[in-house]
Amino acid sequence: MASDTWDPDQYQRFRDERSQPFLDLLALVKPRAGMRALDLGCGTGELTRLAHERLGAAETLGIDSSEAMLRRAAQVEGGGLRFEKGDLAAAGGHWDLVLSNAALHWLPDHARLVPRLGGLLRPGGQLAVQVPDNHDHPSHRVARETGEEEPFRSALGGWRKERTVLAPEAYAELLFAAGLRDLHVSLRVYAHVLAGPAEVVEWVKGTLLNDWKERLPAALYEPYLARYRQRLLAELPDTHPFLFTFRRVLFAGTRPA
Ligand SMILES: C[S@@+](CC[C@H](N)C(=O)[O-])C[C@H]1O[C@@H](n2cnc3c(N)ncnc32)[C@H](O)[C@@H]1O
Repeated sequence: MASDTWDPDQYQRFRDERSQPFLDLLALVKPRAGMRALDLGCGTGELTRLAHERLGAAETLGIDSSEAMLRRAAQVEGGGLRFEKGDLAAAGGHWDLVLSNAALHWLPDHARLVPRLGGLLRPGGQLAVQVPDNHDHPSHRVARETGEEEPFRSALGGWRKERTVLAPEAYAELLFAAGLRDLHVSLRVYAHVLAGPAEVVEWVKGTLLNDWKERLPAALYEPYLARYRQRLLAELPDTHPFLFTFRRVLFAGTRPA
């Protein structure tokens, strides 16, 4: 992203719900002695720390492009865990584990990106990725539809949010073609129970809506948010508690030793 629109406090409002897919991802990784691990799009670094400790890694590097997120991550650095600012698409080196939780969907062209990440693995190294795939949920669709309304449409100058996440089968094929084996690919629907539908707005404010926040003039973001909230709440059932379904794709593979 061009500007830093990430707000660690907003993102962490749903920390428990966001942790579950990460724990499922971590369960796909086979710990090996003295691992060197890379976490792409590490965010606030808390989950990177958890992975570093649970895997007993010798060294873990977290990379993120957001300075605001990295300032928070700096608080959990140490004991072989460190963080750097960078574009995950340009990551280099050779690693025993390349991990990425809820970050790759910000980047286009997974057909090129996934093999590239597979190329960062040493023999015996593992790639483990989780990507949100909720493009068709009202929370995501209404964000796009609101951006099609004026005055937002003109201000966005033709930009539209495209689907970046591929079908689960495509990830299996990409991993296999990249020479990875012992593949795992799954599509899981997480059933998050929120207090009410208004909480969905708070959830996406911490992630999805960053795309519009970054591109709209500052004076238009609050009106965009107000219109989004109005449209979304008119569409979602007004139940308390509210069930927020969230599709996610998890994929993993190992480079043969
Ligand atoms: C939804 S957060 C996930 C953070 C963390 N992995 C977690 O699970 O809590 C997505 C993160 O990806 C980062 N990100 C997005 N595009 C990136 C890029 N091209 N290079 C590095 N980081 C990126 C954002 O700055 C953000 O911190």
